[in-house]
Parts: sequence; structure tokens; C-alpha cells
Amino acid sequence: MILSKILIKYLYIFIFLFFTNHILANTREPILLDESFFTEHNKKLKRDQFEATSPLYKKKKTYDGYYLKDIFKFKNIDILKLDVVTFEAKDGFKISIPASFINENDPFLSIRDASLAIGKNWEEVQDGGRIIDGGPYYLMWDLKKYKVPENYWAFGVVKILFQSFKETYGESIPENTSNKKIMQGFQIYQSSCSGCHSVNLVGGTLGLEMNVPKNFTEYLSKRFIISYSKSPSSYRANAKMPPQHFLSVNEINLVIAYLEAMKYNKVCNTDDSCQKLVSKK
Ligand code: HEC
Repeated sequence: MILSKILIKYLYIFIFLFFTNHILANTREPILLDESFFTEHNKKLKRDQFEATSPLYKKKKTYDGYYLKDIFKFKNIDILKLDVVTFEAKDGFKISIPASFINENDPFLSIRDASLAIGKNWEEVQDGGRIIDGGPYYLMWDLKKYKVPENYWAFGVVKILFQSFKETYGESIPENTSNKKIMQGFQIYQSSCSGCHSVNLVGGTLGLEMNVPKNFTEYLSKRFIISYSKSPSSYRANAKMPPQHFLSVNEINLVIAYLEAMKYNKVCNTDDSCQKLVSKK
């Protein structure tokens, strides 16, 4: 009797430890990359140079900056304990990259274009219908070795977030996670569309919401979605969406299959109810 009481007592402690441990492993303070971040830690962080042909500048350039793994080491972040790492840009772009992918591919966070005179960090370029630059920070990859989705080259980065997969994708995760086609489409959506677009109000805010109150597939034809994705500026001069030329028609069809599944799984379905959710965010 006494023994079982003691056991029960320890069971509670065990459960408590298990859960707090789990919470600690999953929620971490985000890293705010404001102006002072690198100047403050200048002496302790190892500065490097990196040569890359980025999707934004399209020619080989050398950049000053830091390997992400050195920043994480400095911040005591164990990448192997994370599901995904999210990079948020100043314009509302937000991309979540699997932690395992980051661990394998060793990206670089550029802080300036090394070829420019001191005082100027980034050159302005035309990207679709926008004039932008890579700053303040641009996440870069070594293309010589790896094939990297274009959206993983995140520019304008101001914040790095550490949330679990569930916290990151929340309501945009499809209900039927055993359907292969839908899950493949969800994966392509994650790496190619969610940086700008949202589904159930989860995702980037640079592009448009794709599911609520009306799902893209309820008012746009499949043909239009495929063709617009391939070449937005064939429809609208100055379209802000860059052409998704790296995706095949089959891959866009998989994204459409994911979108079609999400129309049965809406967080809100009227103007008013969606507006309420938007203002809560
Ligand atoms: C870099 C940001 C960005 C990415 C990535 C992106 N989009 Fe877009 N998208 C936009 C913006 C902004 C618009 C609004 C119209 C415009 O400026 O092109 C848009 C509009 C659209 C439209 C037209 C909708 C309408 O009602 O006119 C479709 C279709 C579309 N996106 C599909 C996609 C798909 C599918 C993907 C992923 C494969 C994707 N987009 C990735 C930014 C993006």
C-alpha cells in the first residue's frame, strides 16, 4: 500500500519532468536580428566570407557574414533537437526549413556584399514587380554541392524562430496525413508557396491567403493556378510573385491536390469569422 503510494508520487514527478522537458525542447526564444545583434557579439562570433550566386543577384559575389551553425553554437542551440527553423523577413515572407536540412547543408547568413564600399551593405535589384535588396540578412546555400529550394534563399531576414513542426504549420496541416499525394503537395507548398501565401491563416503575409473564406480551387481553375505559378507577369505587369519555374506541372498539381483537400478543413468560412481570426493574430 505504502509502496504503491510512493510509486504514484514518483509517477507524477516523472510525468511532470517529462512534460516540462518536452516544452523546453520545443519552445525557445526567437533570435531577433536587429542592428545590434552582430555588433554586440562581434568579438565572440566567428566572421567568415562566402561566395555564392544567389537567386536575387544572379551573379557570383562574395559576402561577409556568419555560418548559421556558429550562430546557433554561440546561442547554445542544438539543431538536432529541433524539427524546423523559421526565418522571418521584414516584408512578411516567412520560411520554415527542416532542421535536418539545415544541419546537413550548412547555410551562411550574409550580412553584407563584400564588394561594396564600406557604408553600403546591399545593392538594390528588381525582383518581379518589386525593387528590393538582400538586407539586412540573407540566408545563403552552397549550390555547388546541394539542390536547395529557391525559397530557402531567404533575404531580408530579421528574426529566427524555433518552434515545433506542429506549432509552425498548425492549422495548415492536412487532416488526412496518410494520403501520399496530399502530403507530397503539402511538402511542396511548405518549401515553395508558404513563404508568401497562407492556408488557414498560417504562413507568409506577402502573398494571398489560399483557403479561407474561399479556397483557391473554389474560384480559380487548375489551369490558371498552374499557368499563373509558372509566369505571373504573363497575366499582370509588375506581378509581385516570382515565377515558379523550378517546379514541374506535376509538382504544382500536387500543391493543387493539397489545396483541394484543405477546402474541407477551414478555420473560418465567412468574411466576418475570418476577419475575427485575423485580428486575433
Ligand atoms: C515570393 C512570394 C510568393 C511565392 C513564393 C508564391 N507566391 Fe503566389 N502570389 C504572390 C503574390 C504577392 C501574389 C499576388 C499577385 C501578384 O503580385 O503576383 C500571388 C498570387 C498568386 C496567384 C494568383 C491568385 C489570384 O487570385 O489572382 C496564384 C494562383 C498563386 N499566387 C499561386 C502560388 C503557388 C501555387 C505558389 C507555390 C508553388 C506560390 N504562389 C508562391 C507571392 C508569392
